[in-house]
Amino acid sequence: MKLLFVCLGNICRSPAAEAIMNNLIEERDLTEKIICDSAGTSSYHSGQPAHPIMREQAKLKGYNVTSISRSFEIADFNEFDWIITMDQSNYEDVISMAKTKKHRKKVLKMGNFCKTKNQDFIPDPYQEGTQSFTNVISLLEDSCSHLLKFLLKKEEI
Ligand code: 4NP
Repeated sequence: MKLLFVCLGNICRSPAAEAIMNNLIEERDLTEKIICDSAGTSSYHSGQPAHPIMREQAKLKGYNVTSISRSFEIADFNEFDWIITMDQSNYEDVISMAKTKKHRKKVLKMGNFCKTKNQDFIPDPYQEGTQSFTNVISLLEDSCSHLLKFLLKKEEI
């Protein structure tokens, strides 16, 4: 199963989601079954590593954020089984690129998997302080664990 996490710049939220999900996948011995990647709906930061505050704060919690920013492309609808967007605007941008119902059905909202925190989207921390980045990490820890549970059940893994 291949998962693609999508935000706007692919330097803050989706690279962190990718790293957090990869940790869960390793912990559960699922590395041969699930592959993660991330992308941005913009190309503003293409070719760049993740935001230094995100890399630093994630590292403090044991997550290695290694992705290099790239933009989301139509071919990703065929390449990935699930496309997980961070907020409403990312969701609408991705959906607007989908050409078939099958592709639209692959697109999920990460906020729908946030269960312990009362937040239905992952807020953009770019240009905010360190606390906004740590808040994103804790929202993603919550949502990634529930998303993984949902996908394992759905795909019967
Ligand atoms: P991200 O955060 O979508 O979580 O990577 C952002 C990064 C860059 C910009 C906006 C959001 N930007 O406008 O450059």
